[in-house]
Order: sequence, then structure tokens, then C-alpha cells
Amino acid sequence: MPTALITGANRGLGYEFTRQLRERGWRVHACCRLPDRARALKALAAETEDAAGEVLRHRLDVTNGLQLAALGRELADESIDLLINNAGIFGPRGGFGKIAYEDWLQVFNVNTLAPMHVAETFAPHLARAEWPKLVNISSRLGSIAENERSGAHIYRSSKAALNMVTKCLSIDLKERGIVVAALNPGWVSTDMGGKDAPTSARDSVAGLLGVIDGLGEEDCGGFYSYDGTSLPW
Ligand SMILES: NC(=O)c1ccc[n+]([C@@H]2O[C@H](COP(=O)([O-])OP(=O)(O)OC[C@H]3O[C@@H](n4cnc5c(N)ncnc54)[C@H](OP(=O)(O)O)[C@@H]3O)[C@@H](O)[C@H]2O)c1
Repeated sequence: MPTALITGANRGLGYEFTRQLRERGWRVHACCRLPDRARALKALAAETEDAAGEVLRHRLDVTNGLQLAALGRELADESIDLLINNAGIFGPRGGFGKIAYEDWLQVFNVNTLAPMHVAETFAPHLARAEWPKLVNISSRLGSIAENERSGAHIYRSSKAALNMVTKCLSIDLKERGIVVAALNPGWVSTDMGGKDAPTSARDSVAGLLGVIDGLGEEDCGGFYSYDGTSLPW
């Protein structure tokens, strides 16, 4: 049974990744900050009529190095086929003249530093799999080439930096056979994306899983959208 580890799995895209991978028969390590309060995830983990997949809940605040190290040790004997660095925050939207400097570093901690730390922690687990993949959920807003409107400086810069982390990781982990890519889910109707977003979490994740399925060595270090198109950095 292939195995995935997903951060921020209790709601939004992370939950939907968990649901769809379980439906496919995967074993999913679903990580979230408060697993005891993650009602939807609990219900998914308890569903037994479809015995195909399995959902295992773990406590993980991705900015908590001690929790991360403990989970790495707890899963020390596991092989992980797919790691999805999904947890993220938008932070304050304020643009030029209204920057919330006091919040900027926290957004970087969650969106940029934590995915690197998660990758370092689980690289040995990934290296045990036959065709391991590590994807960072980025955003089109992190593309420097596509930025024509400015705004959302904090979020944009955290995802642009995540894109650089992705590129570095694709080189760092190449020798271990781990394919690394940055993925843009589109504008999705989750708590972060809001009700006006044109794409459902279901469609976005179905598209993203299709992209992940197709990732090969030649795609390592790329930036792809959920519809399979390649994005400029
Ligand atoms: N929705 C969009 O339109 C869109 C577009 C582009 C990119 N993205 C990216 O897609 C990813 C998922 O977004 P979403 O739309 O599903 O957002 P969401 O509905 O707001 O969910 C965010 C998830 O991240 C978790 N999280 C936040 N901080 C965390 C931390 N310190 N440790 C562990 N988990 C943490 C949240 O957990 P809690 O419940 O504990 O807060 C929640 O599970 C993010 O990386 C986001 O930047 C989303």
C-alpha cells in the first residue's frame, strides 16, 4: 500500500488530499495541529466500510521542531512515497504603506521554513520508497514573473521563497531519487481561498494528484499548476 504524509490535513486542500488518497487505497499520515479536534479527519479515519485505504492522525504544528523530530522518530521504520507540504497561512493582506511587519516572519516560518524542515526530517523515509515524490504547495502569487499587480507582499514573498526552497531541494535530493516540485492549486474555495473562488477543493486536488502521478525525473525542480501547465518562477 503506498504511503503519503500530508501537513495541514484537517481542513481545506490538506483534508481533500487525505480523502482522495485514502479513496485510492493509500495509507495516509494525516498531520495537523489539533488531531483531537479535527472532526472531519477523525470521521475519515474511523470509516471502515471501504477498507482500501487507511488514515492515521498525527499531531504536528509544522513550526514546532520538537514535534517534527518526534514524528520523524515515531515513523522511523516507515517508507513514504509522497510527502505533501500543504500547511500554509495567508497572513495580513495589507499592501504598500500597510505592511504588518510584526506578522511577516510568522508567515515565513509556516510557509517557507517549515516545508524545508519537514523535508529534512522525512528525506530518509522518502529515500526508502521506490519512486518517492515531495511536493510543496505553493501559489501562482509566488511567481515573480507573473506579478503585475503587487499586493499581498507577505504571502507572495513567502511563496516565492518556498519556490527557491523547492528548487534547492530538487538538487539536494536528486541523488536519493526523490522528485521535488512546487505546485499551484489554483484559486480554491477553502477557508483561505474564500467562497468566491472558482475551483472546488475536490477538482483542485484531483488535478494536483494527476500532476503528481505524472511527475518524473525530468520534472524535478519544476513549478506546475493543477491543470498540468508549467508556471514561470
Ligand atoms: N485556497 C487557495 O486558493 C490557495 C491558492 C494557492 C495556494 N494555496 C495553498 O494551499 C495550501 C492549503 O491551503 P488551503 O486553501 O487548504 O488553506 P486553509 O483552508 O486555510 O487550510 C490551511 C491548513 O494549514 C494548516 N496550518 C496552518 N498553520 C499551520 C501550522 N503552523 N502547523 C500545521 N498546520 C498549519 C491549517 O491548520 P489549522 O486548522 O490548525 O489552522 C489548515 O489545515 C496552503 O499552503 C496555501 O498557501 C491555497
